[in-house]
Amino acid sequence: MLLRPLTGDDRKVYASMLHRSFNAWYGAHGWPSDYFSCTQEQAGIFLDIYNDISPGSSIAAFDANSGRLMGACFFHPREHHVSLGIMSVHPDYFRQGVGRALVDHIVGFTEANQYAALRLVSSAINMDSFSLYNRSGFIPRGGYHDMVLPVPLTGLQVNYPLRDQVRLAALADIEAMATLEMEVSGVSREGDYRYAIENPRAVLQALVFESSSGAVDGFMISIKHPALNMLGPCVARNESAALALLLQATERFRGAVPLFVVPMDKREMVKTLYQWGARNVETHVFQVRGTFQAFNGVSMPSFLPETG
Ligand SMILES: CC(C)(COP(=O)(O)OP(=O)(O)OC[C@H]1O[C@@H](n2cnc3c(N)ncnc32)[C@H](O)[C@@H]1OP(=O)(O)O)[C@@H](O)C(=O)NCCC(=O)NCCS
Repeated sequence: MLLRPLTGDDRKVYASMLHRSFNAWYGAHGWPSDYFSCTQEQAGIFLDIYNDISPGSSIAAFDANSGRLMGACFFHPREHHVSLGIMSVHPDYFRQGVGRALVDHIVGFTEANQYAALRLVSSAINMDSFSLYNRSGFIPRGGYHDMVLPVPLTGLQVNYPLRDQVRLAALADIEAMATLEMEVSGVSREGDYRYAIENPRAVLQALVFESSSGAVDGFMISIKHPALNMLGPCVARNESAALALLLQATERFRGAVPLFVVPMDKREMVKTLYQWGARNVETHVFQVRGTFQAFNGVSMPSFLPETG
C-alpha cells in the first residue's frame, strides 16, 4: 500500500469510503446498516473540518496496484498532545493490516515530534479497533456512556436555573477556555475553540458557563450537521455546570436527537440525563499512549474533531 495525506481532491472517494466503512462494520455486528444515515457526500464534512483545522494532518492508504483508497485516519496536533480520530478502512480491505499501518504512522509522527501523548476515544463494542489501539501501546483510562436525548420541537421542559449562566462564547473567552481545559484535562486546544467560535461552515456553536464572579467555569461546543448531531466537547469544573451547558446546547436541536458522551463516573450527570429522557446507545473508552493526568472535573469528548 502507498501512504499519503488526504487532500481536498480526495473528498468524494474519502466520503464514500468512510460511509461504507462504518455502515459495513456496524451492519455486520448487529446494528442497522445505516449507522451513517446521511448521504455519502455529506460524510465528507469530516475531511472538510479536519482540513480546515489542521491541513494535511491525515494519513490515507492507497492500493498500490489499483490506486483505490483502502483506509484513512486523521490526527490533530495540539499544544501538548496529538489526537487520533475517525479511523476507517474500506470493508474490502478489513483485516489486511491497513488499520495497523495508519496507527503506526500516527504513533511515529507523535514520537518524532516529541509530543507528550497521543489520545483517542474508541468504541468499547468494537474489538477490531480496541485491539488495534491496545496492541499499539494505548492504555484505557476511562469509560463513557454514549447517550442520545430526543429534544421535542418545543425544547426540553426542564427546570434547571443554572442554565441562565450559559452564554455564547466570544473570541475574548479563548484564553480562559484554554486555562480551564489545562486545569481539568491537562491539555488545551486554542485553535479548536477559535474555529468553533468563528464557525466558518455554520455547523458549530460554542457556549460558555460563567460563574457568579464572571469566571469561565465551563464550555460546550456542539455540531449540527446531517452526518453528526453531537453535543461536545464540553469541559467544566463540575457536573452542574456541564448539565447547564448541555441543556442550553439542546436548544438548537429541537426536533432532533443529539448524541453526547458522558464520563461513566459522573453519576449526578448520568442520573439527571436519564431523568431528562436520555438513552444509552453505545459505550466508548478513552485511551492514551504516553503521559496522562487524571481529569479534575468533567470532560466530554467529541468525534469531530476528535477531542479525547
Ligand atoms: C477498526 C478497523 C479500522 C480495523 O482496521 P483493519 O485494517 O481491519 O485492522 P488490521 O488488519 O490492521 O488489524 C488490526 C490489529 O488488531 C488485531 N485484532 C483484531 N481483532 C482482535 C481481537 N479480537 N483480539 C486481539 N487482536 C485483534 C489484529 O490482529 C491486528 O493486530 P496486529 O497488526 O498487531 O496483528 C476497521 O475494522 C474499520 O474500519 N471498522 C469500521 C470503522 C471503525 O470501527 N472505526 C473505529 C471506530 S472506534
